[in-house]
Order: sequence, then structure tokens, then C-alpha cells
Amino acid sequence: MSAFWSAYIIILSLGCLAFVIGVMVMAKSLKVTRDPDNTTGHDYDGIKEYDNPMPKWWQILYWAGVVFFIFYVLAYPALGSYKGFLGWTSVGEHDKDQAAYDAKYGPIYAAYAAKPIEELAHDAAAMKIAGRLFVNNCAACHGADARGAKGYPNLTDNDWLYGGEPAQILETITNGRAAVVGGSKMPAWGETLGEQGIKEVAAYVLTLSERRLSEADQKLAEAGEARFVVCAACHGADGRGMHALGAPNLTDTVWLYGGSKGTVEETIRHGRNGAMPAWEASLGKEKVHLLSAYVWSLSNGGKH
Ligand code: HEC
Ligand code: HEC
Repeated sequence: MSAFWSAYIIILSLGCLAFVIGVMVMAKSLKVTRDPDNTTGHDYDGIKEYDNPMPKWWQILYWAGVVFFIFYVLAYPALGSYKGFLGWTSVGEHDKDQAAYDAKYGPIYAAYAAKPIEELAHDAAAMKIAGRLFVNNCAACHGADARGAKGYPNLTDNDWLYGGEPAQILETITNGRAAVVGGSKMPAWGETLGEQGIKEVAAYVLTLSERRLSEADQKLAEAGEARFVVCAACHGADGRGMHALGAPNLTDTVWLYGGSKGTVEETIRHGRNGAMPAWEASLGKEKVHLLSAYVWSLSNGGKH
């Protein structure tokens, strides 16, 4: 806070205090011309006003308020940049709450972190906590039921981009799965293959999941088979994908982006670059471990 605004606040606050005290002192010493019968002389249709002093209890409350005000502005950071003799800060308050939280839940998370993921997945109490962590941190992309959406994988189907072993899930959540720096996950093939090439290889991809194609598309697919060599580097010669590269299995009926002819062509033409964020820095190792057990449990019959 700049010195100007600090002074501005101090002057406003103390000015207000001076005004409040001044009003009271003035009211006490003010001489109202009194009629002999202790009325003020005001007369409204025959109704007269007594000039009685303010009630004692009210005056006591008023002065107590003034004393409290003075104590408060000295004790707490109320006067500009003056910090108050109690040294209270909202950051300190938050840290205290956080420390109390850590003291209470730290040992619970530590105990969970010591359990292997497969075992933790069957601990109902742990999975309840993990479910809440999932809703708070993961549901925005994967859905509250973890079934995903276009571009966001379903985590309940036991079909994996990066592998469903506990260690692979842990790695995915810990470090995220973003494209290598500057690169793209699924390259764009529009320029290399041309429109005809895209149509052919897309038709071939559709045959991998035993899709029935029209006769015309079947012809395209036959021409596309030879083109699939360039895809095999990541998706494998049989099209079953590779966990190490996050290249999806193209032979099943589970689609990350969609299995319609148009969407598959679109994927091949422009490429895809889905990114799963890394969580270790924001959630910490223990919560990541707990969430890994939760994700594993979703397709391995754990408790949730
Ligand atoms: C900003 C969106 C976003 C958030 C938030 C997010 N994810 Fe993901 N996640 C993705 C995307 C996108 C992918 C797929 C990456 C790809 O296409 O290569 C993914 C992939 C995954 C995978 C790999 C699935 C597989 O088939 O191998 C797991 C496991 C996962 N996420 C778990 C989580 C968990 C647990 C959280 C919460 C801590 C989380 N995600 C939060 C976007 C997100
Ligand atoms: C450099 C490795 C690489 C090559 C080469 C590659 N892909 Fe991919 N492909 C990927 C990755 C990784 C993804 C997943 C992208 C993501 O998660 O965002 C993917 C996704 C796809 C998808 C989307 C699948 C779905 O479930 O929606 C299709 C279809 C596909 N690739 C077809 C092909 C075809 C056809 C070729 C060859 C012309 C090819 N890919 C070449 C790595 C590759």
C-alpha cells in the first residue's frame, strides 16, 4: 500500500472516531433553552417534548463502542499499513488452518500412501476420499462418473492409451501426458497424404474394427492398406496401438475422438494433441497415489 493511501485510510478512520466522540461531548454540554417544566419548548399540536438526558445504559454502550474501536484499530491491521500489535494476518490465519488440517489428515494420507495401489483400491474409506478428490480435480475433463467425453478418455472401460497397470496410471497422473516439447502427439497428415490418401487410409482404419463398409469405401480401404505403413510406427503394424506413445488401439470400438468416417478423416487430416496435465506439483505425491488407486479401481472392481 502506498504511503498516500495508508495516510488516507488513517485520516478517514481517526476522523470518524473524532466525529463520534465529538457528537457525544457536544450533546452532553449543549444547553437547550428549557421551559420551567423541563420541556424543550417544541410543541406539536399540543404534544410537548421533554428535555431528558440520554439513558445511562445507552451512553455506557456508546462509550464501550468507542473503547472497542480504539482497541481494535490498535490490535488489528486496520489503520493503513500499520500492522496491529497482535500481528494478525489473513495469510497467517490460512496457514494456521492449513497446519491444523495437515495435522489431522496428514497421517491418514501417509498411511494410504504406504499401501500398494491394488490394496488401497479395496479400502472403502480411502476410495470415498479419493472420489471427492476426483470430483474436485478431474471431473471437469473426465466427467464426474469418469466416463470422459470427446478427446477426454473414459477411465472406467479398461481400455488404455498409456496403460492400466498401477505404475502406468501413477505415472500418467504424476507427470501428465503432454506431447513432447514442440511436437504433436498424432501428427497431421493432410499435406503428406492429400485428400485422396486421407480417404483411403481412413477407410482402412475403419476396417480394422470390422466395420461394414459400402463397396466404394471397401475399394478405398484396399488402397489404404499400403498407406498404413506410416501409421504403424506408432499404432503398430496390426493397429493395436502402443501405450508408450499413447497411440490408441484402432482395432476396437472405443474411440477417443470418434469413429465416424468424417471424424476419423478429420483426425488424420489435422492430427490430435490431447494433453493430460501433471498433478504432482499441485496435489502432492500422496494424493496422486490415492487417485491412482481410485482410477485403477474404476475398471478393476475396487470399492467406490
Ligand atoms: C484439463 C483436462 C484434464 C484434467 C483436469 C484431467 N485430465 Fe486426465 N486426461 C486428459 C486428457 C486430454 C487425457 C488424454 C491425453 C491424450 O489424449 O493423450 C487424459 C488422460 C488421463 C489418463 C490416461 C488414460 C489412459 O487411457 O491411459 C488418466 C489415468 C487420467 N487422465 C487421470 C486423470 C486424473 C486422476 C485427473 C485428476 C487428478 C485428471 N486426469 C485430470 C485431460 C484431463
Ligand atoms: C507419431 C506417432 C503417430 C503416427 C505416425 C500416427 N499416429 Fe495416429 N495417433 C497417435 C497418437 C499419440 C494418438 C492419440 C492422440 C491424442 O491422444 O490426442 C493418435 C490418434 C489417432 C486416431 C484417433 C483414435 C480415436 O480413438 O479417436 C486415429 C484414427 C489415428 N491416430 C489414425 C492414424 C493414422 C491413419 C495414421 C497414419 C496415417 C496415424 N494415426 C499415424 C500417434 C500417431
